[in-house]
Amino acid sequence: MQREPHLNNAALMARRSAAVPRGVGQAHEIFIARGENAELWDVEGRRYIDFAGGIAVLNTGHCHPDVIAAVKAQLDLYTHTCFQVIAYEPYVELAERLNALAPGNFAKKTLFLSTGAEAIENTIKIARAATKRSGVIAFTGGYHGRTLLTLGLTGKVAPYKAGFGPFPGEVFHALFPNELHGVSVADALASVETILKNDIEADRVAAFILEPVQGEGGFYVAPPAFVDGLKRIADRHGILLIADEVQTGAGRTGTWFACEQWNVAPDLIATAKSLAGGFPISGVVGRADVMDAPAPGGLGGTYAGSPVGCAAALAVLKVFEKEQLLERSKAVGARLTAGLQAIARDNPAIGDVRGLGAMVAIELFEGGNLARPDADLTRRVVAEAARRGLILLSCGVYGNVVRVLVPLTASDALLDEGLQILADSFRAQR
Ligand SMILES: Cc1ncc(COP(=O)(O)O)c(C=O)c1O
Repeated sequence: MQREPHLNNAALMARRSAAVPRGVGQAHEIFIARGENAELWDVEGRRYIDFAGGIAVLNTGHCHPDVIAAVKAQLDLYTHTCFQVIAYEPYVELAERLNALAPGNFAKKTLFLSTGAEAIENTIKIARAATKRSGVIAFTGGYHGRTLLTLGLTGKVAPYKAGFGPFPGEVFHALFPNELHGVSVADALASVETILKNDIEADRVAAFILEPVQGEGGFYVAPPAFVDGLKRIADRHGILLIADEVQTGAGRTGTWFACEQWNVAPDLIATAKSLAGGFPISGVVGRADVMDAPAPGGLGGTYAGSPVGCAAALAVLKVFEKEQLLERSKAVGARLTAGLQAIARDNPAIGDVRGLGAMVAIELFEGGNLARPDADLTRRVVAEAARRGLILLSCGVYGNVVRVLVPLTASDALLDEGLQILADSFRAQR
C-alpha cells in the first residue's frame, strides 16, 4: 500500500492535539500507515519493530492473513444483528470453545461483550447476582479499566483514577504480594483478613478479583501460594474468585489462560485484547450456575459479541493450533528472558527481569538501588528505542518497568533485532 506523501508525524500530532483531548495519552508521537506481523511502518515510511502489540492485543501479529480472511468472509454475510435480537452461530461456537479451554472441572458458560472494562464490569454484576452480596476485594497495583466501576477496582491512582472519583462503593483493596517491594505472600493474605475485620464482614463479600500477572501495575506475577491462600479464604466464606485475564489471556503466558497454571480454577474469567487479534471483543467465562444467576435481559449490549469479533476470535484460535503458538509463547518468553538478562548484566540499573511465558519485563532503579525506582531512565530508554525503531511500553506503579508484549508470531531474528535495539538504547544513556 502506498503511503500518502503529504502525511507526516509532526503535522498529524499538531492536528491530533487540536482535535483530540489530551486525556487520551499517546506513548509515541508516531502515526501508523501499515502493520504486518511484528513490524509496522509509519506515515513517513519508517519501519518499527513492535514490542507493544497494541497493549497485548496482537499475540497473532498485525493483520494475520487468516484472521483478515475470516473477517472479510464475515463482512460479506452480515455485520450486525445484536445477538439479543437475532442470534448467530459464531457467538455460540466461540462460547463453546472458551468453555472447553477454561480450567475447572465444572460446567461453564460464556458471555461476550466489547471491551476489557465491560467484561470486568460484567464479572462483578454476575458475582453480585450469584452471591446476593455487594462487596468486592481487589488488589493494590491492579488495573481493571477506565469505566467508573473498573476505576474503583483499579489500584493505581496516577494517571487513571486522579480527578474521576467518587467511585462505586463496597470496593476494597488488599495488598498484592510483591517481594521486590517488600510485600510477602503472608503480608498480602493478612491484608485480606484485615479488610474482613475492619471494613466489611466476609458474608457480604461477593468476590476477589485479581490479575494472574499484573499488567499496567508492573508485570508482577501472582505467586501460586498467594492464589492458594486466597482460594482458601474464598471457600471459607463463600466468596467467588475472579481472574482478570484481559492482558494475560489468549496465550500470552504460555497457556491459553494464565490461570491454567494455578492450582485452583477461578469461578469467573474476564478475557479480551488478543482474543480476536486486533478486533474488539471481550468475554466472561465462568461456572455455569454462577453465569446463569442474572435474569434474562440482565446481560448483553448492542455491539456485545459482534459477529466480526467472533469470526476473528475463532480464526485466532485456529491460528494458535496451526502455528502452535502456546509452545511458541513459552519459547518467545525464554528467548526474551535470556536476552533481557544479558542486557541486565551490562546495566546495573535493571534490578529485576521477570514474567510468565511471553509476558516479560525489566524493572529499573537508580544505580540498582531497589528503594529508588527510576521512572526517568525508563522514559529515556523507551524514547531512545523508538528513535532506533523499536516500539516499547512502560508500566508499573512507579513507572519504572519496561514490558514486552511482542506478537508470538515474531521470528527469532526479529526478537533478537529488538533486543539489540534495547541494549543499544541503554548504552546510549551512559
Ligand atoms: C488487566 C486488564 N484489565 C482490564 C483492562 C481494560 O480493558 P479495555 O481497555 O479493553 O477496557 C485492561 C486494559 O489494559 C487490562 O490490562
